[in-house]
Amino acid sequence: MSDQTKPHQTQTENSEPEKTVRLWDFPVRLFHWALVVAIATSWWSNQEVMIDIHAISGYSVLALVLFRIIWGFVGSSNARFSDFLAGPGKVIGYMRKLPNGSVRDLTYPGHNPAGGWMVVVLIVLVAIQAISGLFTSEDTFLFFDGPLVAYVSSDFASTMNFIHHTNINLIYAAVALHVLAAIFYLMVKRENLIGAMITGVRKVPESIANSFTQIRFASPILGIAILVVCGLAVWGMVIIARGG
Ligand code: HEM
Ligand code: HEM
Repeated sequence: MSDQTKPHQTQTENSEPEKTVRLWDFPVRLFHWALVVAIATSWWSNQEVMIDIHAISGYSVLALVLFRIIWGFVGSSNARFSDFLAGPGKVIGYMRKLPNGSVRDLTYPGHNPAGGWMVVVLIVLVAIQAISGLFTSEDTFLFFDGPLVAYVSSDFASTMNFIHHTNINLIYAAVALHVLAAIFYLMVKRENLIGAMITGVRKVPESIANSFTQIRFASPILGIAILVVCGLAVWGMVIIARGG
């Protein structure tokens, strides 16, 4: 091909050399995939009427959520709520850029302004599900009471029961939207956010790699220690509530 017939090439972001950068710390990734497994187990055990497994996976969700809230204040800089909760102006600006924006416009060294709020919605919904479960009973043939049922009025327990059976539909909707968004980035934007949540690293154009090198990573040992303490706290609460 002569120079004249060669397609005109500009130095677009897509042809720019890429660099592999660290994005998610180990505790965030562990939290994410453990949460997926625990919620799937809660759902499956309910279908299979295995209430003991349902309760254990539910307690695990509670411990994971507790951990994530603490990590949102003391964890790596891009895991902190203050890093990814943007005001409405930024969220709208991001959504406007989403259809045609370049990689540089849409790539953040953490959650993007719209995704950040989705993260909060997911964590809140999942927390409501796990907490309401503690006050939920099944009294037709399993005769199972959540560990905190005995401590509240029957009116309060039946409200929680209602919430537990209703909120799960909001979780289905939010998770569906969340997974569709991840697939949209992968298929349409050619951005593999899922791989980054698994491996912790991401390939980005060299010109924006700098913003990733500014992430301050917290100690993964600290993360694991906080997670263990959260697990013990939930476990202890259940044992004490059940009377030892
Ligand atoms: C995030 C964690 C949890 C999820 C995703 C979850 C999910 C569900 C779902 C989908 C149902 C069935 C709702 C329906 O049939 O309409 C259910 C029922 C129930 N859950 Fe959970 N749950 C969780 C945590 C818990 C916890 C921690 C407990 C208590 C230890 C608990 C106790 C119960 C009970 C007693 C029922 C009633 C069973 C029945 O009606 O057949 N759940 N849960
Ligand atoms: C029960 C199902 C799920 C729940 C409750 C859930 C929840 C969450 C939460 C809370 C985060 C924020 C992570 C953090 O900062 O700690 C997150 C991020 C993420 N999740 Fe999920 N997730 C679920 C399933 C999935 C699945 C199946 C995929 C893959 C297809 C996925 C892909 C992602 C990705 C790519 C991110 C990072 C988004 C970004 O780069 O900003 N999630 N998810």
